[in-house]
This record gives sequence, C-alpha cells and structure tokens, in this order.
Amino acid sequence: MLYLDNAATTAPDPGVIQAMSPYLEEFWQNPSSGYRASKKVKSAIDDAREKVAELIEAKPEEIIFTSGGTESNNMALFSIAQHLPDAHFASSSIEHSAVLKPLEFLSTQGRSIHYLTSTEKGITDLTSLDQILPNFLSLMWVNNELGTIQPIQEALKWAQENKVPFHSDAVQAVGKIPISVKGTPVDMLSISSHKFNGPKGIGALYVREGFRLAPLLHGGGQESGWRSGTENVSGIIGMGKAAELAKKRLNNSSCSKALGEVRDHFESLVVENVSGATVNGDLNHRLPNFSHISLEGCEAAGLVILLDEYGVQCSAGSACMTGKQEASHVQKAMGFSEEKAKSSLRFSFSHLHTKSDAEIAFQAVKKAVTKLRSVQVRGVGPVIVYSPPS
Ligand SMILES: Cc1ncc(COP(=O)(O)O)c(C=O)c1O
Repeated sequence: MLYLDNAATTAPDPGVIQAMSPYLEEFWQNPSSGYRASKKVKSAIDDAREKVAELIEAKPEEIIFTSGGTESNNMALFSIAQHLPDAHFASSSIEHSAVLKPLEFLSTQGRSIHYLTSTEKGITDLTSLDQILPNFLSLMWVNNELGTIQPIQEALKWAQENKVPFHSDAVQAVGKIPISVKGTPVDMLSISSHKFNGPKGIGALYVREGFRLAPLLHGGGQESGWRSGTENVSGIIGMGKAAELAKKRLNNSSCSKALGEVRDHFESLVVENVSGATVNGDLNHRLPNFSHISLEGCEAAGLVILLDEYGVQCSAGSACMTGKQEASHVQKAMGFSEEKAKSSLRFSFSHLHTKSDAEIAFQAVKKAVTKLRSVQVRGVGPVIVYSPPS
C-alpha cells in the first residue's frame, strides 16, 4: 500500500516509537512526584521540550505542550479574546476548522471577525488589512488542502508596524519547511506532532517570551501553569524525538529537493497522460510534498475508494472533509466550480517516497480515472456507482 496522505497524518518514525516505549513500560511515573523515577521522567520532558524548541529556533520555556494543533489554536484564540475584550480579529477564509470554529464561536460571543479572502491559487490576500485594521491577526503558515505557503512575512510586517499580536497555525509547516521564530518573530505558533512523524494527541503552542497568555485548562498547574493536566509523557518524548529527526532532515536540503522531485515527477506523469487533469494552487509557493489535482468529470469520493483498491491511499480535499459531498470552504474561497471541487484529490508524499513510488501512484490514478469515467453516467454529472469490495 502506498500511503499518500501525509497531510492528514504521518507514520510514527521507528526511532520515535523506540524513544517512547521506555516511558510506557518502565518510566510511567508521574513527573510531578518526588522520587527518583519521576525525576527521570521530568528530565526527559525537559529534553523533549528543548528538541521541539530547537526545531523552530525558540527557547524551551516558550514551548507549552498541548494535546495537538486543535488545542493550541483554541488556546491562542481564546487567550487573546480574554485579554482583548474588544478584539477585532482578522484571519484567513482558508484556515483549518481548528481556527475557523473557535472564531465562529467567538463571533457568537460578540467578537468581530474579519476573514481575508484567498486568491484562486490558495494564497491569502492581505490587501484589505489597512481598511479592516484588526487588533489581532491569525494566519496559517501552510494551507492543509493545497499545501500553499501563506504570506507570513508580509502579514507579520503589517502586524509589527501596527503593533498587532500575531498567531500562526503552523501545523502543516513545522517539520516540513525550516521555520525560525527568531527570523519570523510571531507571538504564538501552533504545532502538531503527528504531522511530522510523531505520535498523535500531542502538540505544542509556542508563546513568545513575555507575551501574555490565558490558560484554557485550569487545574494542577503543569506546564508552568499554562496547561494543567498530568503530562502525556510518552507523547511528549515521541514528539521530541520526531522534532529532532525532522530538524536533521531539514538541515539536509537535498532531502526536500528530492521530495519535490518525486512530487513533480508524479504530477508530470498525471498531467501528460490523463486527460482533463490540472494541478491546483500556487506552484511557486507550496510544500514540496503536496499535490492537489482536479480530474475532470470524476467524483473524487469514488476515486479515493478505487485508488485504495489499487493500492494508493489519498484524500478528497482535506481529511476533515472526507465523506462530505460538497466543495470545501477552501475550494469555495478559491472560486472553484462545484464540479471542479468535487473532482479534486490531495496527494501528500513523505520523505521516504521515491520516483518509482510516483510512477506506481500515477498508474493507479490512470487506472482509477479510466474505470470511473467508463462507469459514470454521461450527461447527468458525476455519480458514484462503485461500491467498495467487502
Ligand atoms: C492546518 C491544521 N491546523 C490544525 C490541525 C489540527 O491538528 P490536530 O490534529 O493535531 O488537532 C490540522 C490537522 O489536520 C491542520 O492541518
């Protein structure tokens, strides 16, 4: 099976599993207790914090462990809402639901929210910031459907000039492209371990030193009081190891170049050999592992099922939209027609893939498209007539 859904989640690295297991089998003690074993657990957490901090060039004390990207985003947004009762938020219309839903909730509480529009290439348009004049800005680093890299430097420049706090949902970016909070001094940044070969259910919120935060969870005062709850120790250790390995890959620029070449090889094969195939998104500003392709006249949900049967796992739109038969909010924001949106697939490669994997994936796509086109009823629009094998 060829797993091409690394934007949804990634396989835990064997080194990560190995690093975690002593903290499940032997050192499972509560890190807050007073005996020696607990001290070892506590020091392993400190080590992991350092590794996560190193990945984004932060200080260890600026890293707060959370349960993942969703919690980190909620913590950032609700914290701001608490500190700025008259907050006028601006965010992008192509954010993940882990930003959009908290914002939606905040709008029911009387906060004013402005959504910046997207270009047809999946890049947030910042030109209206001067008219809206928000006093808080949240912009994702990389879009999770298209893999498009958002204009973070420009947004941050605006935020700094206007003294506006800035948060970025960098869940799809961290571990995939170099990120430095020194070079791009954001105030808060959300991270999720399972997107870079770490375990699920663990993430972090980077909070710049001195930035005022309000905890979301109150209780035993763990994470220096910012996030109560007994630590997910094995998860934290796994995330630390994953961060260390991701940093090594990022330091080796040929790794990212090779990944881009695999993706490009796949796209050229598909575009040149499958009629009605188009690649979506800004091709000059996207992650090297993402490929978002529309296959004219083919229902994406049907293609996902067929491709699975032919040995390729991928997504129709974002993982969170799977199963829904409507264009995602991202595709709508980009102005996709309903038909184009419904015929789009997201393939996301990993650093372990090779050009021969790209060829296998292409053959599967070609076969699936041919099969689906041959069974779809012409003239009444795409329909799914295929049922998965039992
Ligand atoms: C951009 C983005 N933000 C947030 C999340 C949520 O992260 P988590 O699954 O760790 O809660 C995801 C997950 O797909 C994502 O892609």
